[in-house]
Amino acid sequence: MRAQAGAGSLLTEIDHVAIAVRDLEAAIGYYRTVFGAEVVHREVVESDGVEEALIEVADSYLQLLTPTRDSSPVARYLEAKGEGLHHVGYRVADCAAALQAVKDAGGRTIDDAPRPGSRGTTVAFVHPKGAFGTLIELVQE
Ligand code: CO
Repeated sequence: MRAQAGAGSLLTEIDHVAIAVRDLEAAIGYYRTVFGAEVVHREVVESDGVEEALIEVADSYLQLLTPTRDSSPVARYLEAKGEGLHHVGYRVADCAAALQAVKDAGGRTIDDAPRPGSRGTTVAFVHPKGAFGTLIELVQE
């Protein structure tokens, strides 16, 4: 039986699945060649030290992510863990409310308050420690 995403869930949709890669052009080429998937948006997020390329998959995105500087958290991630799944972004109606819900539940957060993300979104990250090993991004469009 499939659980329904009822009115009670703060997570409304999967916004994106983010994959950390060393060579953004090579990764884009892979998805184009193998799956015929095209990039619909590219953006450098200077504050995070990353460049991202978004590939649309239905109503969600695959986000290919590469560091733009050595001090970027994604650079440190690549060094420690190598390429692969980096985080999952969930759409929420209200980022501040969802972040507060995590705090109220005793969860660890990376961001203390919502901040600007790419594509004009408002985002906040939840620490993987306390979230069963997955870095979670709360995305408000
Ligand atoms: Co993200």
